[in-house]
Amino acid sequence: MFADAARRYDRMNRLMTLSQDRRWRRLVVEACQLPSHGKLLDVATGTADIALEALRQHPDAFVIGADFTHEMMRIGQAKDPDARIAFVEADALRLPFPDDSFDAACSGFLMRNVTDVTAAFAEQRRVVRPGGRVVCLEITRPATPIWRDLFHLYFFNLVPRISAFFSSNKDAYTYLPHSTLQFPRPPQLADIMRSVGLKNVTWRTLMLGTIALHVGEV
Ligand SMILES: C[S@@+](CC[C@H](N)C(=O)[O-])C[C@H]1O[C@@H](n2cnc3c(N)ncnc32)[C@H](O)[C@@H]1O
Repeated sequence: MFADAARRYDRMNRLMTLSQDRRWRRLVVEACQLPSHGKLLDVATGTADIALEALRQHPDAFVIGADFTHEMMRIGQAKDPDARIAFVEADALRLPFPDDSFDAACSGFLMRNVTDVTAAFAEQRRVVRPGGRVVCLEITRPATPIWRDLFHLYFFNLVPRISAFFSSNKDAYTYLPHSTLQFPRPPQLADIMRSVGLKNVTWRTLMLGTIALHVGEV
């Protein structure tokens, strides 16, 4: 699905979020609190927007972008002509890195897609050194009834129509709203993070409660 969507992915992101996704990625990198010459793992880097933002904020950082969809990473590579990001083929559920090897691990819009959210967080916790951070950006269902109804209307009616206009693969964007329905709400996601040993877990919501940014410490 992501291989099919790769070429249109960035354009759809900007359109569906009214370009707010750029700000969210800035917040993800800030939440990672990288030290100087810090090492960051961007899990499911996709087209590398978070990894590129990390290098913008921390030009001296060492950034690995890991993903299992080559087509997405190829778009990311084209956006990184100086090859500052190290792209690695990897499954988020079995990261090919030793314990404690990063100052932070982050993911943007990954967790809805994995078969085991707990295992994905456990892997990120494993590869981050003690005192480092695990940061997660994901779509979430708003708690307030009126925003919840609007969210439903937007994701189930408008998003598939917009995607149908731009793409032949409508499945990708009907999958998107359905994946949000099953995904844990922010307090439950925080509990999952705590269950793998992450400490001081906090979260904030953005965009009328439709986006959640979770941060935990190792
Ligand atoms: C919605 S895109 C997000 C890309 C990028 N992080 C962003 O913020 O735009 C989801 C990405 O997760 C990747 N992905 C999904 N499940 C994965 C897994 N188990 N291991 C590695 N990558 C995965 C997909 O290949 C895709 O590139």
